[in-house]
Amino acid sequence: MTADLVINNGIVVTPDAAFPASVAIKDEKILAVGAPDAMPSASETLDASGLHILPGAIDVHVHFRDPGYPNKEDWESGTAAAAFGGVTTVFDMPNTIPATGNGTILAEKHAIAASKAHVDFGLYGLLGEDTIDNVPELIAGGVIGFKLYMGNTFGKIPSPSTGAMLEAFEVVAETGKRISLHAETNSIMERRQTRLTQAGRHEPLAHLDSRPAVVAVEAVSRACILAEWTGARIHILHISSADELRPLREAKARGVDVTGETCPQYLFLSADDYARFSGVIRVNPPVREKNNQEPIFAALKDGIIDMIATDHAPHTPEEKTRSDIWAVDCGFPGVETQMPAMLTAVNAGRMSISDYVRWSAFNPARHWGLYPRKGAIQPGADADLALVDLAREWTIDDAKIQSRSKISPWHGRKVKGLPVHTIVRGRFVMRDRTLVSGTKGWGRSVHTIQQMPAPAIRNAGKTMRAVTGGIRPSPSKENAA
Ligand code: DOR
Ligand code: ZN
Repeated sequence: MTADLVINNGIVVTPDAAFPASVAIKDEKILAVGAPDAMPSASETLDASGLHILPGAIDVHVHFRDPGYPNKEDWESGTAAAAFGGVTTVFDMPNTIPATGNGTILAEKHAIAASKAHVDFGLYGLLGEDTIDNVPELIAGGVIGFKLYMGNTFGKIPSPSTGAMLEAFEVVAETGKRISLHAETNSIMERRQTRLTQAGRHEPLAHLDSRPAVVAVEAVSRACILAEWTGARIHILHISSADELRPLREAKARGVDVTGETCPQYLFLSADDYARFSGVIRVNPPVREKNNQEPIFAALKDGIIDMIATDHAPHTPEEKTRSDIWAVDCGFPGVETQMPAMLTAVNAGRMSISDYVRWSAFNPARHWGLYPRKGAIQPGADADLALVDLAREWTIDDAKIQSRSKISPWHGRKVKGLPVHTIVRGRFVMRDRTLVSGTKGWGRSVHTIQQMPAPAIRNAGKTMRAVTGGIRPSPSKENAA
């Protein structure tokens, strides 16, 4: 058998080990991993001397803005950024226009993404007060999971009441899919923002004062309680504070199927950076006091936080530099700079490169039902690889990144450790730090290969459907009541 590609002289990295090995690829999949003389003949060989071969990162949290905000990003620019960042699969959030809340809109987004994506993708369905009834059509249309906003952020998607959230969890629990939570409690932060505005606070740190850690702690705790009651699988997005770790740890100990992510901004930026970056650093949840960084790092190491994602949230320079902090759009790009930022920490000895692979690829694949098709370098897995040069240095330059959003607090940061080639299902999409032409539209939705474990429903006899016999008012009537 002749392979399509054999990669020689690199160091293969798994969650447990890093070892010299060759990798053979055929028909989009890994055919063999082993000694160079055990490899089949190949149409093409790549000399990966000096490079580490990582499973491509799976970023379960990006905002690619398409459809709706082409000035901020679209599927082509967003996935080009992913390709440059060694990211081979992204999960896109539903706060696009229109929000991804029914089967028709989901089908439109699938078509757009499939026509433009350089990397593989999954699409979230919106789980809001008005979309609970749409869960079956969203499942049928192929969502990777659901997103529920417990608090307001960009796009102003209304947060469901706790009552609606419980019902939403009951409905999704039956499907086995995971619900990702923007875990910030709306009523706390809205009230504080109003008071802060009345008090004349309009500078960047007012944003942090409007969302102290209790905003997240209360939301994480409540979400875990509802998940335990219903058996819903949940995922806590963008863990930003040490205080959130207690309810997360407790829920895991009680057997709740809850996973957590943090993002580079909560590991490498702090309240000390607000003066320097002004509104550019505004993000939800906010970048917090420096003493949160070490506990978050430690939680990754001990497995309480499962994965690294980015919350890639592009906006334009004009939207990020308004003088009133309340008028600044929240978020900044990150899908392209996550891997370099984390590899810099590997180089600094803060964790091993195997730790990084566990957080960036292995755990996301496992918890989202994609392992071992994704997140693994072993025969039969999709050939999704990031070939990285741990010795290569770069000063991040917003003007040169692929994202349409040319503004971020990563600008000017010196990093060491860069992806130099990215391979998605056997095909180079980024090679020698250059986008490979003709790869637009190569990306595919991964919902078709997702296999979540069977649902583990709890309190089935007490669900809204069980106690009402399935009779629900129409969503509009319910809201009016
Ligand atoms: O800062 C943020 N921006 N946080 C979010 O949760 C959403 C995101 C966005 O879509 O811009
Ligand atoms: Zn987000």
